[in-house]
Amino acid sequence: MIKLDFEKLREDFPIVSKVIYMDSAASSLTPRQVIEEISRYYLEYRANVHRGVHRLSQEASEKYELAHFKVADFIGANSEREIIFTKNTTESINFIANSIELDNRNRNEIITTYLEHHSNFIPWLRLRKKGFIIKLLKPKPDGTIEIADFEKLISNKTKLVAVTHVSNVLGNVVPVEEMIKISHNFGALCLIDGAQSVPHIPINVKKMDCDFMALSGHKMLGPTGVGVLYIKEEHLNDVEPFTFGGGTIEDVSIDSYKLTRSPERFEAGTPPIAPAIGLGAAVDYLTKIGMENVLEHENKLSNLAFKGLSEIDNVEVYGPAENKVGIISFNIPNLNPHDVALVLDNIANIMIRSGHHCALPLMKEILKRPNGTARASLYIYNTIEEVKKFIDAIKEISKI
Ligand code: ALA
Repeated sequence: MIKLDFEKLREDFPIVSKVIYMDSAASSLTPRQVIEEISRYYLEYRANVHRGVHRLSQEASEKYELAHFKVADFIGANSEREIIFTKNTTESINFIANSIELDNRNRNEIITTYLEHHSNFIPWLRLRKKGFIIKLLKPKPDGTIEIADFEKLISNKTKLVAVTHVSNVLGNVVPVEEMIKISHNFGALCLIDGAQSVPHIPINVKKMDCDFMALSGHKMLGPTGVGVLYIKEEHLNDVEPFTFGGGTIEDVSIDSYKLTRSPERFEAGTPPIAPAIGLGAAVDYLTKIGMENVLEHENKLSNLAFKGLSEIDNVEVYGPAENKVGIISFNIPNLNPHDVALVLDNIANIMIRSGHHCALPLMKEILKRPNGTARASLYIYNTIEEVKKFIDAIKEISKI
């Protein structure tokens, strides 16, 4: 593994010279290289894709298609046909929730967990209207999932298991590989919410063997407006598209239509061309750094932050200390988490997220903190010095 100069790469992110950015779990910063690639599209070959024989459209189509290949390589997919560009993780999950039909009353259960972001929770609760039964897997008080608890819930009635790979609140890595294997033993499908894992840890969907994975470009150095839905090859013909229209067909007559192959069959209308090309550049950037290096750097920072916060008397830190990415949730018990975030911005120039983080079931039922938490989330451009400043600032605020 090549060692990287993480100080040097900060030059690619102009914002880090102005503020200490610790809100990458909400949205990461974007390096110059990604912005330049997007600009190149707008300045040099701006045109629609798959709709013109002229040179500009050809070039835009090639670059847009290449982005599918890049993402496929990055997550270890079999082919670019398995990569569908959506708006974001939320849309990718809704895509599958919308496509699922109750074709067999003997297989009408969906399992999700109390850990989930609302995006991987509400779409499944909504399916009760279609006759599905939703079962909820409860983590331990520190947010960790016990496989034995999962085994008590799953059965031959389970149609699908939808689980996050990494909690967006606690940062813990969920043992999804084992859960996928068990799901398949029971004939159930498995959807993984990779929004908080793909930006931070090496991922191989083939090895993982998940059926679906959802992720967002804007959390992994890409622009906003593009997400990914990975659909395992064997399901490509079974999944009903979420949207229908231009670009999705082989033929249409006045009373019928024939859909074309994936990914076009799933990407109706003009797709997010510039964002997808930007995501391709983000993937190049992360690949050049190496995801092992990303994880190692983040672990170093995250261990320091977790330990530093845990040692402050008047601070509660949530989640396990190990097997996690750089997401740390905490509270100063007599302060509202939003006040903590505001004071951090005012006195220390540090940006964090506060509140329920779109994970109210976890806040209410597991952490028992309905007001939410303060959350620092770290990425490749953060440094040890920044983490030390953050800990010192929290020490000061905890004395208020
Ligand atoms: N899902 C994002 C977060 O956790 C927005 O902050």
